Amino acid sequence: MSSVIEAATRASIERAATLLRAGELVAFPTETVYGLGGDAGRVDAVRRIFAAKGRPADHPVIVHLYGTAQVDDWARAVPDGARKLAAAFWPGPLTLILPRAAHVPDVVTGGQDNVGLRVPSHPVARALLAAFGGGVAAPSANRFGRISPTTAQHVAEDLGDAVSMILDGGSCDVGIESTIVAFTGDEPTLLRPGAIGPAELHRVLGRWPHSPTPTAPRASGMLVSHYAPKTPAVLVAPESLHAEIAQLTDRDEVLAVLARTVARPDGFADAWIDAPRGAGAYAHDLYANLRALDAANADALLIEEVPTDDGWLAVRDRLARATQGTDDDRD
Ligand code: TXA
Ligand code: MG
Repeated sequence: MSSVIEAATRASIERAATLLRAGELVAFPTETVYGLGGDAGRVDAVRRIFAAKGRPADHPVIVHLYGTAQVDDWARAVPDGARKLAAAFWPGPLTLILPRAAHVPDVVTGGQDNVGLRVPSHPVARALLAAFGGGVAAPSANRFGRISPTTAQHVAEDLGDAVSMILDGGSCDVGIESTIVAFTGDEPTLLRPGAIGPAELHRVLGRWPHSPTPTAPRASGMLVSHYAPKTPAVLVAPESLHAEIAQLTDRDEVLAVLARTVARPDGFADAWIDAPRGAGAYAHDLYANLRALDAANADALLIEEVPTDDGWLAVRDRLARATQGTDDDRD
């Protein structure tokens, strides 16, 4: 385990805020996934985030704030719908894309005229944001192209010495990244599904958010093959899982299986994880499960398909990305 991991205490959080003020990077827990934080007002600090992640410099990063009152410092316009969502879901796993205020550095927005803002609810994130005072730019604290981290150990495995401190706040409650809603065109647009689903957005907005169009602002989280394990991964229908395993095993392939309802076949000796049945618990464990199965260095990772009802939208989105091969555009 890396020595940069520190239990989140009042003293370590104060030191983390001091590091942020010095332009250094601090990884910290949020309720969704761990973030790799730097002072959003400092171009050098945000550049360091990109270097540590190995992420292309034109990708935008989310600015994390302590409270909704700070939104007007970062956005020049906050439409009524955005205010309603903020009031309903902040602090919490929601990111709003809004027209940026003039001072927001290009390096934060990827040169776009919009900025992503989020008020997280995790007590350690809140304590850090309160101690720091300003906006903290933070993408997920993984290397570019890797699965988002949901524990401090995941961060250390991916980023190790590239970060000055990793605040350990245990495993993240939600386990997948925030819901992203853009208010940059005529209609609110759901750029990334998350724990806050379309039905909850509809309840507060009084209308359904749109799906992304080619003119929607760029969220590279929307492009295929984010959150991908290294092992080639495929989704398999529950009723086909045993037959698929038998066929691949006959070909001497070493397998890793993420099952949910299907029982482990007799005599199956490769890596196998029984995921929780409920969508929330499944999401909570998903990235840790994918990391564990990836570590088996199998020839193929078989993932049992999950239900199609609305509560599974965000999980299905992440599983689709995990099984869509590789491309160059992952955050
Ligand atoms: O739950 C989360 O949102 C986590 C925690 C740490 O807060 N953060 C996170 O950040 O997932 P990241 O950078 O890994 O993914 C954020 C996504 C990226 O796909 C990025 O392109 C998009 O949000 N994004 C950020 N700012 C944007 C903007 N101004 N316009 C469009 N998309 C934006
Ligand atoms: Mg990410």
